[in-house]
Amino acid sequence: MQNDQVTPKETATILELAEQCLPVAGDFVELGCYRGDTSVLLGKLLAKSSSSCGKPVDNLCKNTDNGCKTIAKVVENPCKTHERRLWIYDSFAGLPEKTTEDASGAGQNFQAGELFVTKREVIEKIRHANLHNVIIKKAWFDDLTGQDLPEQIAFAFLDGDLYSSIKTSLKLVAPRLHKQGIMIVHDYNNPELPGSSRAVDEFLRAHPQYQLRVRHSLAIIKQF
Ligand SMILES: C[S@@+](CC[C@H](N)C(=O)[O-])C[C@H]1O[C@@H](n2cnc3c(N)ncnc32)[C@H](O)[C@@H]1O
Repeated sequence: MQNDQVTPKETATILELAEQCLPVAGDFVELGCYRGDTSVLLGKLLAKSSSSCGKPVDNLCKNTDNGCKTIAKVVENPCKTHERRLWIYDSFAGLPEKTTEDASGAGQNFQAGELFVTKREVIEKIRHANLHNVIIKKAWFDDLTGQDLPEQIAFAFLDGDLYSSIKTSLKLVAPRLHKQGIMIVHDYNNPELPGSSRAVDEFLRAHPQYQLRVRHSLAIIKQF
């Protein structure tokens, strides 16, 4: 079934940037996984990269006294200690209540409890995709602590729709993001979900070391 939360162009951008983060040390996270459609794509990308982990990817020619000796170049192996993983988070109880920062004249959608999906459904989807590198956590983002996240994060997709959800996601992820890592926040400039842009803009004002690029409704955030 087509993902009704993220457009095909957005999905392509998310995967392109996630792929750019493959050489960066750290795990991937998605806060707000809903049915797990984007999670499966990110999990497959990581799994594919882990399966080539440590294998020769290129042949190099090294000059020796008697000509050219071919040596194998091995990819920088970011998964020496463990296979890199995708950590996904959701309340599995739908959206929380909006706050005043989410008020919008553009519609009354996105009420508390909307986008409800069971954790079982997502577990089944991950299993069906034959992925063994995904950790699924059921929690309200406000109840998460640093211990619930990977120590180091290479790539993050933050898709909690509402002001408080995005604000908390940024607070949790930013301190663990590798210097060359990327965070993507969904619904930037979406008039129906103004809280997402508000949370991003506040974060950027408080953390001037980060720069923003916008593609479609994706806020792409990385350090200068
Ligand atoms: C737009 S959907 C995510 C779509 C998904 N990223 C995808 O690409 O298909 C938003 C999800 O965020 C979850 N969510 C929003 N705010 C949350 C919060 N504060 N704590 C936990 N889950 C939250 C909702 O339950 C919902 O499943």
